[in-house]
Amino acid sequence: MDFKNKVVVITGASSGIGKACAEEFARRGACLVLAARQYVNLCEITAALQTTYGIKAIAVQVDVSKEEECEALMIQAIATFGKIDILVNNAGISMRALFADLDLSVLKDLMDVNFWGTVYCTKYALPEITKTKGSIIGVSSIAGYRGLPGRTGYSASKFAMNGFMESLRTELLHTGVHVMVACPGFTASNIRVAALAKDGKQHGETSMEEGKMMTAAEVATTIVDGIGNRKRTLVMTAQGKLTVWLNKLYPSLADRLVFKHFTKEKNPLIK
Ligand SMILES: NC(=O)c1ccc[n+]([C@@H]2O[C@H](COP(=O)([O-])OP(=O)(O)OC[C@H]3O[C@@H](n4cnc5c(N)ncnc54)[C@H](OP(=O)(O)O)[C@@H]3O)[C@@H](O)[C@H]2O)c1
Repeated sequence: MDFKNKVVVITGASSGIGKACAEEFARRGACLVLAARQYVNLCEITAALQTTYGIKAIAVQVDVSKEEECEALMIQAIATFGKIDILVNNAGISMRALFADLDLSVLKDLMDVNFWGTVYCTKYALPEITKTKGSIIGVSSIAGYRGLPGRTGYSASKFAMNGFMESLRTELLHTGVHVMVACPGFTASNIRVAALAKDGKQHGETSMEEGKMMTAAEVATTIVDGIGNRKRTLVMTAQGKLTVWLNKLYPSLADRLVFKHFTKEKNPLIK
């Protein structure tokens, strides 16, 4: 697919996978609408992409957990570029705490950003994407296929996202709109540092070996290629594919293997 002058809205574009997607789309000549809460950071990213790739781009300060801000984002995208071709629902937060210790507000925050953020943005972009027969993407996770210990709220939000996207894809089957779920494996980014602890405060450090993970740039290339090829689902990394496959065929073995894997985190929550 030729992305030149396609209008792409990306949420969570101030860091990690979203920022890398912005760069990959910019390299391929798209017009960008970049959204996140950290506006100054987002403006710097937008300006750098405009200078490097000579593209048109705007930065919009948005908290995706707020419906009215998601609606305003799409209004601003239309006011600036006149259409929306692609929506990448990427904004997300994670958590790290056992459910027994968890303040339930953390679980609600995870659902508000990861699930409801996707729902709100999709709702307000859908009429425009229907006109352009474009693409709606959900950046989900392997945790949306297989529940992970210490991440009850994260897994629940990504399972909810997957169900929402699958229903939507089926509803839109004969409309020409493309709906894709992208599930990166562990990817080096800020997600584990920003993850919420049991009391809702940021964890502040990563619990894993970030150097051994996929890079955000690799994930972004896979996502943008997947959109170009109108893929249905992208399950990334050999470990991710094995986890999804094993969970389908041998779920109780998967319980034991996943438990064992998470006993090897730094300061593990389960032993
Ligand atoms: N890294 C991994 O291992 C991994 C694996 C599978 C899936 N994923 C998924 O990939 C997506 C991107 O994560 P990442 O790894 O790139 O993490 P990241 O580096 O922490 O980036 C997360 C992005 O989401 C934005 N965000 C968070 N809360 C938001 C809110 N309420 N409103 C708007 N934007 C918000 C952040 O920007 P602001 O703080 O500026 O708002 C940031 O740009 C997430 O959906 C995550 O679940 C990540």
